Amino acid sequence: MPGTIGDWTRDKLKILEDYLPAYLGATTRAWDRIYVDGFAGPGTNILEREDRVIDGSPLIALSARAVNDTKFSHLYFIEKEHDLAAELERKVAERGESGRVTVICGDVNAELPKVVHAYHKKAPIFVFLDPYGIDPRWDTIQSIARWKTELLINFPFGMAINRNRQSPKVPAYFGNDKWQQLWPPSGRTPTRELLDHYKKGLVSLGYKYTTPIDRLIKTQGNTRLYYLVFVSKVDVGARIMNSVLRQPDARGQAQLL
Ligand SMILES: C[S@@+](CC[C@H](N)C(=O)[O-])C[C@H]1O[C@@H](n2cnc3c(N)ncnc32)[C@H](O)[C@@H]1O
Repeated sequence: MPGTIGDWTRDKLKILEDYLPAYLGATTRAWDRIYVDGFAGPGTNILEREDRVIDGSPLIALSARAVNDTKFSHLYFIEKEHDLAAELERKVAERGESGRVTVICGDVNAELPKVVHAYHKKAPIFVFLDPYGIDPRWDTIQSIARWKTELLINFPFGMAINRNRQSPKVPAYFGNDKWQQLWPPSGRTPTRELLDHYKKGLVSLGYKYTTPIDRLIKTQGNTRLYYLVFVSKVDVGARIMNSVLRQPDARGQAQLL
């Protein structure tokens, strides 16, 4: 069954949908251009208010085309839950795209490095990481950083991190202990500082280019859910993403950047 999502999820998906054609255009001349969805889900989602089914990130990537019709040469969808992975596999088959897709039922921390390491270090690989919880581990990101990977990451502070300071997943998520100095055991969660720390770590791994602003995804009631963080090894990626972020969101609202 597709999961039910709030309207704000469309903002996240629109950013992906707007960015991928430009990525495909920019990588047209590469031998391979790969998409990896580390937290793929079942492929579609039901929009809560409208009772309408919309494509989730893996199917958006599957449909993505550059202006010159370039598409991803192969896509990998990693999903931990068996039922969801099977459902996704069915949807890919219904679209006649099984040849271009590998659905992997497993944990992103085990599977993502294997997928990336199978490619040449210069093959462009776009990785979307859209967890509900405190994942992926930092060592997973580290292990793919020497490849030509570009990352769009959901930094899930409102949904996961700020409610779980004591979780053993937190040290593994940040990779070193600096977060403990930034985040006292009581009081408010210093979200922006934690995110800046996380992004500094990404820069140290070679992801030198990012956008000046990270899109904050909020509910209609203004609850802050997560930041979308984009990092790349090439400045053109960050420039394109920056112009995508300047577009109105899925509800047509202009972004204050
Ligand atoms: C937020 S949903 C992904 C939604 C999807 N990006 C979309 O746009 O439709 C997160 C998904 O990640 C899966 N998941 C959670 N932990 C995982 C892990 N460690 N490895 C792989 N998948 C995981 C969950 O079962 C869930 O389907």
